[in-house]
Amino acid sequence: MTVYGSFPGTRPRRLRTTPAMRRMVAETRLNPADLILPAFVREGVSEPVPISAMPGVVQHTRDTLRKAAVEAVAAGVSGIMLFGVPEESKKDALGTAGTDPDGILQVAIRDVRAEVGDDLVVMSDLCLDEYTDHGHCGVLDQEGRVDNDATLERYAEMAQVQADAGAHVLGPSGMMDGQVGVVRDALDTIGKEDVAVLAYTAKYASAFYGPFREAVGSSLTGDRKTYQQDSANVRESMRELALDLEEGADMVMVKPAGPYLDVLARVADAVDVPVAAYQISGEYAMVEAAAEKGWIDRDTAILETLTGIRRAGAQMILTYWATEAAQRLR
Ligand code: PBG
Repeated sequence: MTVYGSFPGTRPRRLRTTPAMRRMVAETRLNPADLILPAFVREGVSEPVPISAMPGVVQHTRDTLRKAAVEAVAAGVSGIMLFGVPEESKKDALGTAGTDPDGILQVAIRDVRAEVGDDLVVMSDLCLDEYTDHGHCGVLDQEGRVDNDATLERYAEMAQVQADAGAHVLGPSGMMDGQVGVVRDALDTIGKEDVAVLAYTAKYASAFYGPFREAVGSSLTGDRKTYQQDSANVRESMRELALDLEEGADMVMVKPAGPYLDVLARVADAVDVPVAAYQISGEYAMVEAAAEKGWIDRDTAILETLTGIRRAGAQMILTYWATEAAQRLR
């Protein structure tokens, strides 16, 4: 570098002088199409139910879910990830409501497909925790531990009813070993070769899921540390990644997003399948809460978090701000 006297000859600030200049040299761009909206639909309610720990997010009725899907399409959002919240009385040890063809999630998949057809990629959460009375992501053995292989049998059934209902993509989120392979097989067995699997490759046991547990009315006591990953680990995620690809994952995901950007960057570097990140409920809640107190500028902070996740390597982002952010990006 040439130095004239004590002044710098190279000045990075030149490329930051105007908004147009900054836009021109931006290395990361955020588009509505990068975004996927996670949405909750609750059985048996006639009005949407607010989720107190997620201001602005609701448990939808069947009707308001359809409207939210239409709004998402209009904003240019690519996909919707559906979570079902069954009536409390329908929860049981096996999570039977999760495999009932008329269970709330299956009904919601059909509703959204009927409303928006193929204009939105319809994804469904494939997990038992919303439907079990103990709140775990699988079925339990005699000792009360989550039984991996017995759970896989339940996941295979879930895959089939969700695909029959019309889901384009299934998101097995329970962190059982072998879940991607079992879901793929179950789909192929019933001629649903075109239904894709979004693998929850790296899903960490996170305190930031707190607000989600309210959102789905979770019955969980205790934690999920025997199946979700330890936040201390990153090489373990690379191992999960290799397994998911081997088992037939079409896309892979890292979750949560913000506290795990290093994991995301490593995964994105290592694969050639699309990579997603899930900006989870606690990440949402933190920004909303700080903004409500006047401690941060909400709108700027939201786009900054999303840009950071894209920059780290996610092509797609699941975010509760999807529709709003897409509207602002248009
Ligand atoms: C499990 C599932 C969870 C989330 C998505 N799928 C909760 C958990 O693992 O406890 C969390 C999403 C969020 O916090 O936004 N079905």
